[in-house]
Amino acid sequence: MVLRNAGFLAIALLLGQAGHAEPDTYVRAGAIVDVEAGEILADRTIAIEDGVIVAVTPSSEQPIPADSEFIDLSGYTLLPGLIDAHTHLLHDSDDHGLRTLVVSLPEATINGVKNAAATLQAGFTTVRNVGAPGYADVALRDAIAAGEVAGPRMLVSGPPVGITGGHCSDRNLLPHEYGVKGTGVADGPWQVRQMVRQNVKFGVDLIKTCTTGGVLSSGTRLDAVQYTLEELEALVDEARAHGRKVAVHAHGTAGIRNAILAGVDSVEHASFLTDEIIELAKERGTTFVMDIYVTEYILSEGEESGMLAESLEKERQVGKIQRDSFRRAHAAGIEIVFGTDSGVFPHGDNARQFSRMVEFGMTPAEAIRAATVRAADLLGIGDQVGRITEGLQADLIAVSGNPYEEIGTLENVLFVMKEGVVHKRP
Ligand code: ARG
Repeated sequence: MVLRNAGFLAIALLLGQAGHAEPDTYVRAGAIVDVEAGEILADRTIAIEDGVIVAVTPSSEQPIPADSEFIDLSGYTLLPGLIDAHTHLLHDSDDHGLRTLVVSLPEATINGVKNAAATLQAGFTTVRNVGAPGYADVALRDAIAAGEVAGPRMLVSGPPVGITGGHCSDRNLLPHEYGVKGTGVADGPWQVRQMVRQNVKFGVDLIKTCTTGGVLSSGTRLDAVQYTLEELEALVDEARAHGRKVAVHAHGTAGIRNAILAGVDSVEHASFLTDEIIELAKERGTTFVMDIYVTEYILSEGEESGMLAESLEKERQVGKIQRDSFRRAHAAGIEIVFGTDSGVFPHGDNARQFSRMVEFGMTPAEAIRAATVRAADLLGIGDQVGRITEGLQADLIAVSGNPYEEIGTLENVLFVMKEGVVHKRP
């Protein structure tokens, strides 16, 4: 609470003893989006105490105390801060292919500071960052949490855990004599367990791994399986032992199947889906995080930004199929959470994916749920963020107009508050 004078302090102390507190900030909204119900509620005032929402009330019933901060957003529609479950904040979108080799760890870290700011300004108040070198993501997360750097709340994976020569190793760009491999490389169940333990030791929130090749790594195949089921089960078991969730990069069907069978929380990309795999994911309750905007950037800007010819070729094979898979998985009732792979494309453009999710089968309400309440649940923080309701963090964004009628309005976020602190105003 911000204490403004001695009299107020005395009152606050008295109230404190009685277990009550006075909100310090009131935000008047023209409307708020109840993302769970899929409804727009007009004229609401949100009362905030110490960065937490303490009441949401029809504005006509909410007096505003003179000594509180009043933010008038009566011309706007408020939503909970958006969540992107698949980002790479330490990576810049103009450094692809061989250019990645000349980016030092300090440079990547500085990029992360810049990219965190751009992401927050775009209305994303929480991200799950799935792969970064040197635990720089842990440092960035902590600096943001301490208020030293502006950015979204981060859940981070540290170095992805992967096989020798795999998509989660380095990108296999340097010849053998350099002796370079990804810092998260681990082969065999016990090395895999050791790597999970190391990541936990250095402060990660979740474990990221790869069970197939990828678009942006050299010499890997989208359909090739990386890790045996035995290795994957060891990884998941070890992650669980430390209370960590597991996110798995997988494009090809067999790698997706292994991930689901091993009991991971989310499959990222999930490109080549069969009916059998969709059924299996439904049965096991696996969530998919499908980055269906990034294709457009790769095919239009990839070459310019340094991507390998091989990567462009792989993207041409996967993009259309992934979008078709998105439609089928959604129609079958699979939980699909919003995640974009930002960093492959410019940070701050994350919201461009909303209109594609609608184009490929979601209603606007479903797409917004995927980036709020459902994403919060996948991250395991649904009791802290993802809705505008009493007891949750005051992570609020404002747009003009009705996002259920015009989903594209989310690409133009005009106000951003995170934990009660305003980072952008109209
Ligand atoms: N990081 C991913 C990979 O290298 C990007 C895939 C992007 N393409 C797509 N269609 N989702 O595989």
